[in-house]
This record gives sequence, C-alpha cells and structure tokens, in this order.
Amino acid sequence: MSPNIPLHHIFTAVPGRYDLINHIITWGLDWWWRRRAAEECLRSQPARVLDLACGTGDLGLNIAQLAPNSLAVLGLDYSRPMLEIAAGKAKTLAGQNISFIHGDAANLPFPDGSFDCVGISFAFRNLTYRNPLAPHHLAEVRRVLNPGGRYVIVESSQPESKLIRGLFHLYLRWFVYPIGHLLSGNKRAYHYLAQSAARFYTAEEVKAMLLRAGFREVHYHPLLFGAAAIHVAIK
Ligand SMILES: C[S@@+](CC[C@H](N)C(=O)[O-])C[C@H]1O[C@@H](n2cnc3c(N)ncnc32)[C@H](O)[C@@H]1O
Repeated sequence: MSPNIPLHHIFTAVPGRYDLINHIITWGLDWWWRRRAAEECLRSQPARVLDLACGTGDLGLNIAQLAPNSLAVLGLDYSRPMLEIAAGKAKTLAGQNISFIHGDAANLPFPDGSFDCVGISFAFRNLTYRNPLAPHHLAEVRRVLNPGGRYVIVESSQPESKLIRGLFHLYLRWFVYPIGHLLSGNKRAYHYLAQSAARFYTAEEVKAMLLRAGFREVHYHPLLFGAAAIHVAIK
C-alpha cells in the first residue's frame, strides 16, 4: 500500500457525488476530455488497455464503448467505493470486455509488458505532484507497457497566458473549492483538488518528467486554453 494515506482517505470518502461534481465544476467538459483521451488510447489499435487510477471508470468505459469487442480494458484503483460505482456502470455495457480490480499504482499486479496502452484521467496529478513515489509510479507504468506502448494522460494543466492562468486559479479557489465542498460535504478533498491543480506542473514540466522517466516521442495537446492537457508518451 502506498504511504500516501491521507490521499487514500480522500478517495474513499468522496465517491457519492463524485461524477456529478466533476461535471459541474468543468461545465461538462470532463466528459469530452476523457472521450478525447479514449480516442488517443485507441489510435495505435491496442489489444489490452489499463485505465490506471480509474475511479468511477469513465475513461475505461469510453474506451470500451469506442473499441472493437476484441479489446480488453482493465480499470485499477485503490478506492473500493470508487470501484463499486465503476462496476455498476460496466453492467450497463453488455458485451464489452471491461473489468475493474483493486490495486495500487505503486505496485501494479501485472507482469512486465502486459498492456499496449495505459490511460490515466485526472489522477496523474495525484501520483506525481509532491508525491515522493512519483518516479516509482512512472517506472511502474513503463514496466507494464509493451515496447512501443502508449501512456495517455489527461490532466489539469497551467494556461500559458498569465491572465488566463490567473483567472483559472481564481476559478479553482472561488468556484471549484466551495462548490465541491458544498456538494460533497468533504472540505479536505476539494481543498486538495483546488490547491494541487493551482500548483500543478506546466505541460512542458510534465513532458520533461516523462522524458526523464525514459519515455520517448512525448507530446501534448492543450485543452481549454491550457487549463487541461492530453499528454502522450511512448515506451
Ligand atoms: C481524481 S480521481 C480520478 C478518477 C478517474 N480516473 C476519473 O477520470 O474521474 C483520482 C483517482 O486516483 C485514485 N488513486 C490515487 N492514488 C492511487 C494509487 N496510488 N493507486 C491506485 N489508485 C489511486 C483514487 O482512488 C481516485 O479514484
């Protein structure tokens, strides 16, 4: 188990209205951003995809919906309440090859080279920002990818324009935090979200981190003036 216990508490406490709050604080854009990331995951026609830190499962479910039936999608998360919601959603997707397991990103329960693609939506920040296990989390993803496999990340980012960045940080502080707190009843969770998103790395810093971890052909697409980004890295 990861030593990052407070974060684990946050993600076991928050699930009830987790999806609804995400849609409200992003004005529904989170759905499109995961969809874009799912398309990016499928670009290299993978046979096995891991949705890492899958939460309530939406990235993996998008991939399964868009993909041919032969594709196997596995979601992994260390929050059991999140996984219960994900499994409930998967029941409505009859015929798709998707399943969810409990596990820790720091110690992935798979042999080397198990996946053609690892996708992660809105959890890369949790695994890397001020996280002493960040290099280890990246090494684990590399280990479970096949050579040539893709790591696709959709995550909050930092707008390049100083003005837009300032507005984005105000939005996090004065809308995301209070609305998240109000609707979830969990002050700590949305304080953490607003603060870590405001202080998170720029897209160029994430790119440098991925290159340092041994990935190649690292590139990214900014979303909504850079408030979020999709990063792609190849093993
Ligand atoms: C902000 S949520 C994102 C969930 C989902 N991917 C989405 O798009 O909504 C972050 C998720 O990362 C999971 N998580 C954080 N650290 C983890 C770790 N070390 N191992 C497994 N899951 C982890 C949390 O339990 C939570 O479900």
